[in-house]
Formats: sequence, C-alpha cells, structure tokens
Amino acid sequence: MRTLAKNVYAVGVQDWDRRLFDELIPLPDGTSYNAYLIKGSEKTALIDSVDPPRIQELIGHLVQAGVEKLDYVVCNHCEQDHSGGIPDVMLMYPEAKIVTNAKCKGMMLEHLDVDEEQFMVIADGQTLSLGDKTLQFVITPWVHWPETMCSYLKEDKILFSCDFFGSHQAGSSVFVEDEAGVYEDAKRYYAEIMMPFRSAIAGNLKKLEPLDIAMIAPSHGPVYPRPALIIDAYKDWISDRVANKVVIAYVSMHDSTRRMVEYLVESLADKGVGVKQFNLVGVDLGHLAIELVDAATVILASPTVLVGPHPLAGYAAMVVNALKPKTKYAGIIGSFGWGSKMVETLTGLMGNLKAEILEPVLVKGQAKPEDFEKLEALAETIKDKHSQLGILT
Ligand code: FEO
Repeated sequence: MRTLAKNVYAVGVQDWDRRLFDELIPLPDGTSYNAYLIKGSEKTALIDSVDPPRIQELIGHLVQAGVEKLDYVVCNHCEQDHSGGIPDVMLMYPEAKIVTNAKCKGMMLEHLDVDEEQFMVIADGQTLSLGDKTLQFVITPWVHWPETMCSYLKEDKILFSCDFFGSHQAGSSVFVEDEAGVYEDAKRYYAEIMMPFRSAIAGNLKKLEPLDIAMIAPSHGPVYPRPALIIDAYKDWISDRVANKVVIAYVSMHDSTRRMVEYLVESLADKGVGVKQFNLVGVDLGHLAIELVDAATVILASPTVLVGPHPLAGYAAMVVNALKPKTKYAGIIGSFGWGSKMVETLTGLMGNLKAEILEPVLVKGQAKPEDFEKLEALAETIKDKHSQLGILT
C-alpha cells in the first residue's frame, strides 16, 4: 500500500507479467490496475477496483489498511479491469454504496453481479463529502467508453482519471520516476485506446481546465505529480498537427511487394520525407499505433491472395480504420499474379479514414522499370503534399 497524500493510498495491483490486453494489445511493460483509498474524517471511499483475477490482492490491501467499514465505492468506468472487482468488494463491505453516473450504473447492471439498490447515482459536477475531504465528479464521456468519468479530490487537488491519461506500465513507485519512459507508454496507450476519440478528448480537456490539479492518478500506470507532462502530451496528440512521416505497413510473400516497398522508402528518404517501415509479420501493434498518432501519410502494401489483399494487410487496414488517425493521405501499393481486387477491398476496409486516397500502384508479377517510375511519382506526390502542409524538413 503506497501513499499519495495524507490519508490517500494506492491500493491497486501491479501486473508485471501481463503481455496482452483484450487479446489484442501488447503490453511490453506489463500494466497495473490502480485503485485508491481515501480515508476522510467521516467517510471512507474506494476509487475503482481491479481486474477480477487480482481481486484478492485488492481486498488484502484494504484489510492491511485497516478498512473495517467502507462507505463508498466510486466507479469511474464500467470496463471490467476496473469495475470487475466491485461485486467482491461489495460482498466484503455490504453497507457501501456504489457511486457512479446514471449511464455507468446501467452498464454495470448489464455487465456485473450488482443490484439496483446498491447504487448512489451522481450528476456531473456533484460533490460528495467524506468529512475533511470532498470528492467532485466530472463526467468525461468517451474516454474511451460512453460512461467514463473522473473524480476530483478537492482538498488534495488529485484527479482520479481512470483510463484517461493512463499508461500500461507496472512499477514499484506510485509516482512517475522516468518521465520519458512513461511518456512512451502513455503515447502507446493513447494510440491504442484513446486515438479514435480525439474530439471527445478535446472537449474533456477543456472541461477539466477550471480544476486546480496538482496530481493525476490514473487507473493504469504511475501517478503524475507533474500533470503538465501528460496534459501537454494529450494536447499535442489530439491536435491537427501531423509530422513529415509516412508509415508503410507491408507484407510480402515472394519479395515483389517487398522490393516495391524498399524502393518507395529509399525514394521518400532521398526527398527528405521521414518513413517508418513495418513488416506486418509479427508486428508490435502498439509500435505501429504510436507512429500512426501523427503520421501525415499511411501506405499499405500487399500482395494479392485469392483475389484480395493478404489477410495481414486486411488486418492492418482494419486497425487503421478503427484507430482513426489524423493522417492526411493514404495509399495502397502491391502486386498480383493474374487478377486482383486488393485495392477495392483495402479501400473499403478503411472507410473511416478521413484521408485523401493517393493513386495506387499495383504491378503484375515483379515490378518493372515503368512500375518503379510510378513509385517514384508516388514519392514525389507525397513529398509535394507534405511540402504543401509545411512539414517537409
Ligand atoms: Fe482500463 Fe477501459 O479499461
């Protein structure tokens, strides 16, 4: 059990060994499920819980903290890695009330074994006195579910933000120690979880502005004693600013597509355009997502498999489509043996992307001199587009 401020404790769990979240998201640095205990002079509150398989550790921390009576269990977010332990907490402390907003209550009733009468529903901006400490609730929807909210501890100026501002990182210190390392994990987290909700995040950042925040305590990763680190980072990531960068995600079976990719990469580099090249075989999805945060251009490259794209390219297109990066231009290159609907299929899979689609380059067999000329023209077009954006270095 670790202390954030007087009578405010971190009672969650570090998950050093977890390597995958949602059976999708790689966790190179593990993660944590943070829960916080606030002992007011009159009432005691728990902020969020932990992933159900780790609930016994949270209960152990509450026992260790001498909590005999719990008055409130605040639920900032219904996703099970934070709310899933609440039914067990309620079994241990049946007199407690689950404090949350109306939407979250509805979702908790759908997803968890909790009862209607266990809830205290709060409204946006409402306060809850714990005696000498006061919680204020700020509803911050769509970070990253519709019911998400933050809880602000007025006297200690601590914002409990749940997933918002979080990072998948396990650690022994309650506070950020390595700012650069946490920045990288928080950017990865933003890219994988929050990026599709840029406009909602902008509204929520504005909503939090009036609060005097001395510390941000998310539900994943360490606590920020210098909130500007993560607030400024979020402002940058959600801004319209894009970098002079082309993300090229490719897969190749017989090297025809690979040679096209390598030519394009060289040509772009020669023109002063930055490139990040990802082979989709065994790619770290988080690494790819991080580069999508500010890439001005995305290129998918694939051979044709049974008329369509290679399934890994289809997967990449679906990821790009779901994450909705702010990329301005997108292109498709690749090869085929005797016929292909690859371009149509990949374009269809990226319908959410608000990017200008560049002229595709598709070659039969291996690329020939005229095909390399088309790749050269594509590189020139990208250079010109980046130049028009004022980002060419
Ligand atoms: Fe960490 Fe949306 O759950």
